[in-house]
Formats: sequence, structure tokens, C-alpha cells
Amino acid sequence: MQTNIEIHTLNNVDISKLSALYNLSYQNYYIPIELTQEQFESKLKMEDIDLQQSVGAYINDELVGFLLYGIRFYKDVKTAYVGGTGVAPDKRGNKITQKMLDYSFSRLKDAGVQNIFLEVNTKNDFAINAYQACDFTKTRVLNSYKGIPTLIVNPLHAIVSFDDLNLITEENFWDIKPTWKNQIQSVKNIIDSCHINGIFEDDILVAYKIINKNNTRIYQFGVHRDYRNRYLASILFSDLKNKEIKMINVDEREISTIDFIQSLGLKLYDQQYEMKKEL
Ligand SMILES: CC(C)(COP(=O)(O)OP(=O)(O)OC[C@H]1O[C@@H](n2cnc3c(N)ncnc32)[C@H](O)[C@@H]1OP(=O)(O)O)[C@@H](O)C(=O)NCCC(=O)NCCS
Repeated sequence: MQTNIEIHTLNNVDISKLSALYNLSYQNYYIPIELTQEQFESKLKMEDIDLQQSVGAYINDELVGFLLYGIRFYKDVKTAYVGGTGVAPDKRGNKITQKMLDYSFSRLKDAGVQNIFLEVNTKNDFAINAYQACDFTKTRVLNSYKGIPTLIVNPLHAIVSFDDLNLITEENFWDIKPTWKNQIQSVKNIIDSCHINGIFEDDILVAYKIINKNNTRIYQFGVHRDYRNRYLASILFSDLKNKEIKMINVDEREISTIDFIQSLGLKLYDQQYEMKKEL
């Protein structure tokens, strides 16, 4: 390409231009994505996207590529997450993604970031190749499910709303760590859009779920380790009869969770790799 590509941060980016390029980049994606500007801004907030660390590619001052980074501490380790990568369709094939990644690494390292995570569709060889060329490696496979739950149990327990997220502890509920978008911090960032409810026994939270009220996406659900195999998960979903729900980024090693999701009648519709790079 004869034109000069300039790479710099998205610090002063015009959000409407960034949002338009995001939609343009993902319009022919495996699952096409189109966000309103409001939804795009909510995504930035939810994922803790830091525009000072995020990167843009420009040709003649026009934004043609972006690399969005969320920054968060995960167990005291400063961690970055790629919340989106895109290049305008007519500018692809010029290694713009690698240029943006290469530009970002030393800056992230200087800011104390130790690891970068991302998710990429398992069929997206173009992107996977670009990430592997920059030393990202695949860490796990994540499944996405959707469907309308079919429920056979009679709810014997009340499902009650609660808002104390401290009740949801890793020790009690999680076998495998949730991905960035499903972490409690993401939920906190958009708490007004979330509905959190669960089942209590003797004042102990024994099952819970967190759902986005606007798009019925389940961010998390769990049954307390000491209360499993008592149909609590089935009861927990009984208030979602006749509603299409989605669960993305379920680790394929979570066999019992996957068995349960499939028993609800949800179907696998997409798979992603999680990839990681240590700085
Ligand atoms: C993935 C994406 C960001 C890569 O863009 P890019 O920086 O132009 O890609 P590169 O120049 O590094 O090329 C990567 C590969 O894509 C190929 N490619 C992709 N689209 C192309 C196009 N329109 N024209 C030419 N080559 C293209 C290149 O040939 C190259 O293959 P190679 O490594 O075997 O030579 C871009 O295709 C895109 O925006 N896709 C839609 C959004 C997306 O998938 N984002 C990633 C989500 S994790």
C-alpha cells in the first residue's frame, strides 16, 4: 500500500466514528454485529475499555482500524482484554492488526499489564493467524448456547431478587473462572441493566443467576458446591419459561454445566478460543 498508515492511541477518538467502524468491521462476521451508539458505549463501559491504551490505525487522518483494550486487575495481576479488533474491509490484508498489536505491547507493559486475553471465533483463521503471529496462544475453547428453556420441575423454592454481589464467591460457586465479559466486574459496570436472583436456604445463597434484562443474556449462574444434584439449577430457571436466552463463553471443560444447559433445551450455536499473551 502506498499510503502511510499511522498508529496511535484512541485517546481523542470521535466515539461515533469508532462505533461506525466497529459496525462496518463486524457487519459480515460469523454472527453479524450491529450496535447502536448507546449499546456500543455500554459495551465500552461494561468491558472497562480504556481508550488511552486502545489503538487506532489512520490513513490521511481517517480511522481505518481499531484495537480496543479493557484493563482490570485480576487477582492482583493487571490484565488487559481485547474487546474488539477491526479493520475497514477495503483496507484489509495490510497487516494493520499486527501493527496495532505491536504498537500496544510496550505501552501496556509500561503501564504494568502482565497478561492480555482475547476471544476469537474458532472459524476466524484471519484473526487467529494475526494473533498467533504476535505470540498469542490458545488457552481454552468457549461454547455459546441459545434457546428457550423447557422446564420439567415444579419450583419448590422461591426465586428471590437480591443485590449483594459479595454473596457470590468463587469458593462456593465456580469451578472455572468466568471470561472477562462474564466477570462480576462487568456486571457491576452495567448493574442497572442486570437482574440478579437466586434461591436461599436458611439464609444461605444456594443458587443464583445474573441476566441482562434487555437481551436475556445470562452472564453467570451457579449452584453452591454443597447443594448440588438437588434440581436447584432447574428450579432457578423456571422463571424464564418461554423466553429465548443466551449463554456465551461457557468453558467446554465445564461438563456438568454443559449437560445442564443442554437438558434445558439450549443448543450450541458458536465457539470461540480464548487466547493469551504474557508480556
Ligand atoms: C481480522 C481482521 C481484523 C484482520 O485484518 P488485517 O489487519 O487487515 O489482516 P492482516 O493484514 O493481518 O491479514 C490477516 C489475513 O487476513 C487476510 N485478509 C483478510 N481480509 C482480507 C481482505 N479483505 N483482503 C485481503 N486479505 C484479507 C490476509 O490475506 C491475511 O492472511 P495471511 O496472514 O494468510 O496472509 C479483519 O479481517 C477484520 O476486521 N475482520 C472482521 C472483524 C474481526 O474478525 N475481528 C477479530 C475478532 S477477534
